[in-house]
Amino acid sequence: MKHLYPVGLFMLSCTCLQLSAAAPARVGISREAEALVNWKASLAGANKSLRSWSLANSTSLCRWWHVSCDLAGHIRKLDLDDTSLNGTLDRFDFSAFPHLKILILSQTGLHGTIPAGIGNLTSLVELDISSCPYLRGVIPRSIFQLKHLAVLRLIDLGLDDMLPEEIGNLTNLQELDLSMVTLTGSIPQTIGMLVKLQVLSLVGNNLTGSIPMEIGNMTKLQTIYLQHNNLEGQLPGTISHLVKLQDIILSENQLLGHIFPGIWNSSLLRSVDIANNNFSGMFPSSICVGGALTWIGAGYNGFTGLHHQTFQNCTTLQIVDFTANNIVAELRDCLSEHPGDLTTMAFSQNQLYGTLLTDQGEDFFRNRTYLSLIDLSNNALQGGLSNCFWNLPDLEFMDLSSNSFSSVVPFKTCQDNLKYLILANNHFRGTFPLGLKKCKNLTTLDLGGNNFSGTIPSWLSMSLPKLNFLRLSSNIFDGIIPHQILQFRQLQVLDLSKNKLTGPVPDDFTNFTGMADSIYQYHNGYRVQIHIVWKNVDYVYDLMIAAMAGIDLSGNSLSQEIPDGLTTLLGLRYLNLSGNYLSGRIPKGIGNLVLLESLDLSRNQLSGEIPPSFLSLKSMSTLNLSNNELSGRIPMGNQLQTLVDPSIYSNNPGLCGFPLNDCMNSSTPDQNETGQAEDREALWLYCFVAAGFIFGFWLYWGMILFRSEVTKKIYSCILFFQAKSNV
Ligand SMILES: *[C@@H]1O[C@H](CO)[C@@H](O)[C@H](O)[C@H]1NC(C)=O
Ligand SMILES: *[C@@H]1O[C@H](CO)[C@@H](O)[C@H](O)[C@H]1NC(C)=O
Ligand SMILES: *[C@@H]1O[C@H](CO)[C@@H](O)[C@H](O)[C@H]1NC(C)=O
Ligand SMILES: *[C@@H]1O[C@H](CO)[C@@H](O)[C@H](O)[C@H]1NC(C)=O
Ligand SMILES: *[C@@H]1O[C@H](CO)[C@@H](O)[C@H](O)[C@H]1NC(C)=O
Ligand SMILES: *[C@@H]1O[C@H](CO)[C@@H](O)[C@H](O)[C@H]1NC(C)=O
Ligand SMILES: *[C@@H]1O[C@H](CO)[C@@H](O)[C@H](O)[C@H]1NC(C)=O
Ligand SMILES: *[C@@H]1O[C@H](CO)[C@@H](O)[C@H](O)[C@H]1NC(C)=O
Ligand SMILES: *[C@@H]1O[C@H](CO)[C@@H](O)[C@H](O)[C@H]1NC(C)=O
Ligand SMILES: *[C@@H]1O[C@H](CO)[C@@H](O)[C@H](O)[C@H]1NC(C)=O
Ligand SMILES: *[C@@H]1O[C@H](CO)[C@@H](O)[C@H](O)[C@H]1NC(C)=O
Ligand SMILES: *[C@@H]1O[C@H](CO)[C@@H](O)[C@H](O)[C@H]1NC(C)=O
Repeated sequence: MKHLYPVGLFMLSCTCLQLSAAAPARVGISREAEALVNWKASLAGANKSLRSWSLANSTSLCRWWHVSCDLAGHIRKLDLDDTSLNGTLDRFDFSAFPHLKILILSQTGLHGTIPAGIGNLTSLVELDISSCPYLRGVIPRSIFQLKHLAVLRLIDLGLDDMLPEEIGNLTNLQELDLSMVTLTGSIPQTIGMLVKLQVLSLVGNNLTGSIPMEIGNMTKLQTIYLQHNNLEGQLPGTISHLVKLQDIILSENQLLGHIFPGIWNSSLLRSVDIANNNFSGMFPSSICVGGALTWIGAGYNGFTGLHHQTFQNCTTLQIVDFTANNIVAELRDCLSEHPGDLTTMAFSQNQLYGTLLTDQGEDFFRNRTYLSLIDLSNNALQGGLSNCFWNLPDLEFMDLSSNSFSSVVPFKTCQDNLKYLILANNHFRGTFPLGLKKCKNLTTLDLGGNNFSGTIPSWLSMSLPKLNFLRLSSNIFDGIIPHQILQFRQLQVLDLSKNKLTGPVPDDFTNFTGMADSIYQYHNGYRVQIHIVWKNVDYVYDLMIAAMAGIDLSGNSLSQEIPDGLTTLLGLRYLNLSGNYLSGRIPKGIGNLVLLESLDLSRNQLSGEIPPSFLSLKSMSTLNLSNNELSGRIPMGNQLQTLVDPSIYSNNPGLCGFPLNDCMNSSTPDQNETGQAEDREALWLYCFVAAGFIFGFWLYWGMILFRSEVTKKIYSCILFFQAKSNV
């Protein structure tokens, strides 16, 4: 947060030439030494960091640690940055330092308040009190009497205050940084009196109200940082007077309305970030008048259009982010005339339309050799993808998901840098794109939600060895799952669900070691996110990947048994094989998957008992075994006890035990043996009575016999008799 400015901070005091008043100076100097020593005495354990501060040493005051003097021998600078001091400023006699120009109390560990006496430092030019979160209270108003102040930094303190009108008295200020000090209230109009100000930073406070139009009076301003506040209202048009402006960051406020065209009038402008506000209307044109702009962040607003000339002359732009606006535009209209090297382009969640197949599309991309990120997801783009997309040597990330692209991906080549390719939710058709074979550095491939058909190529794992996310779900792929798919070493997410795949689930998972560690994926500060709806929840891949490894083969026509090999994937957290024709037993070793959170085997033809090792699935929070032919007692205990919804076992005629009905005919001994024996005796008695009832009164109560309640009990008696006679 510190800035270096070529301002007169280090003004040498010329009083050194007037040494005639030597004797009074000596008195002043000893008073300074005394004041420091007295203050030191009030601090706990300061002997180490301030050891040289001693009256025995007072003749060499200027050699004391953290102290520098002017030529007359007065303390000119006191820099206690990063000393661990335990105490307050209460005993600091500010009036002893009339010559002090620079006071730095950053990261000192001081607590208490900033005393009003600080206003006695009448020569002060630079005051920096930062990163002392235990300093509380208000900004003493006496600070606003320090006429010579050029730099005022109060950053990351525990204050609770407003920004007072008196700020306008500090007319010599060049840098004002009051960030993260919990200022409330609005920015006073008097701030416009700071006509020498170059840096204004009020980040991360709780400022409300609008940005005063007097801001336009501070014509020397180069930097405005007002992000993370609650500022509201429109941007004052007077910002166009700030012709020296280089960086303006207003993100995360509640600013709204249209932005006045021509507001960015500085030829020096480098970055504009107004993301996460409520701006609306057309985004102003001619943003690049100065030709220095590298970054526009305008995401998460309500902009509805880009002016024809918005990006004209933007030869230096690197990041353009208009994610989640409401921009309706034909892509080539707003972008094709921009001749610069955009390196990052994010226009997702807008209403961009048009095609990228046309000659104009080719124009747009042909010369952008440095383009490394393209996010045009969630728009209405259509047509095909021209070859120019695949010839961008620096492209690492391309997200074209949720558009209406239709024709087969045509490319024949793939550049080495491409790592993320997301083409999900379009209308692509045809076979698996052969050109992908050349994208050997791909880590993420998402072709889900299209109309791709044919078989899944067996070369995938050989040609794309770095893949850790592969989604081909919701297409019409058919044939078997090639067993080579198990040769992926880094794969963490394999989603082939909702296709027409047949044959067995491949077995040998020994090389499939990817269900392990992972990293957050960032791309030049742009967050790479993929949503996967798993466990009936919407996971965001980049956040969850560290904890996410899963296989989804649901909704196909896979048959035969669930291979034992699956139970060797110890990192697995999500497994969905639902909606296939799997038969045979659930593998005994399923309990090895101790991290498994979600298991869906529903809608298959699985039979036999639920293996007892289910009790080892201690992380499981979602389970579905319904619609199979499972039988026997549901294992009881541990995590399974928390899964109380009986529907997760429903439509398995032979299954019993909690949370389904008790197992009346169970011959499996268990720990509830005694309780069961008692139950049996009670049932004997009950059946005896019921039998008497039936045989004695059936003529009179015949109708009642057929009421479901009674018939059910009789039925269980019959079963019970059968069980007894079998023993
Ligand atoms: C006097 O100051 C010097 C450093 O300037 C220090 O090394 C020395 O220990 C101090 N002497 C005393 C008596 O504090
Ligand atoms: C500061 O000093 C007080 C005693 O004066 C002591 O109780 C406290 O633990 C000290 N705090 C730190 C952070 O050293
Ligand atoms: C020092 O500051 C205090 C509080 O602002 C004030 O009362 C006092 O008069 C000042 N002393 C000098 C010598 O300026
Ligand atoms: C300081 O600011 C206040 C409020 O803006 C004003 O009334 C006062 O005149 C100013 N004092 C000086 C010395 O400029
Ligand atoms: C900011 O102000 C809002 C509304 O007045 C309040 O709810 C919130 O707690 C404040 N935040 C801080 C950090 O003071
Ligand atoms: C300061 O700004 C206000 C509003 O923009 C304007 O009316 C006033 O004339 C300006 N003052 C000076 C001294 O420029
Ligand atoms: C833009 O700045 C120029 C000076 O560089 C100034 O003459 C002009 O009035 C400004 N335009 C607007 C709209 O303020
Ligand atoms: C772009 O630059 C040309 C040539 O310098 C200039 O004529 C044109 O007005 C500029 N366009 C915009 C929108 O700044
Ligand atoms: C784009 O590249 C072509 C050649 O590929 C070149 O003729 C043309 O001048 C370039 N256009 C720009 C604006 O750089
Ligand atoms: C796939 O093709 C069918 C038949 O042409 C069509 O109805 C369907 O909308 C297509 N799906 C997608 C995602 O394009
Ligand atoms: C498993 O996949 C099916 C569809 O393929 C889906 O309906 C179900 O919700 C998934 N199960 C879980 C637990 O996510
Ligand atoms: C279990 O799966 C069946 C069939 O796939 C589904 O209908 C049911 O809603 C699922 N139950 C739960 C609790 O998810």
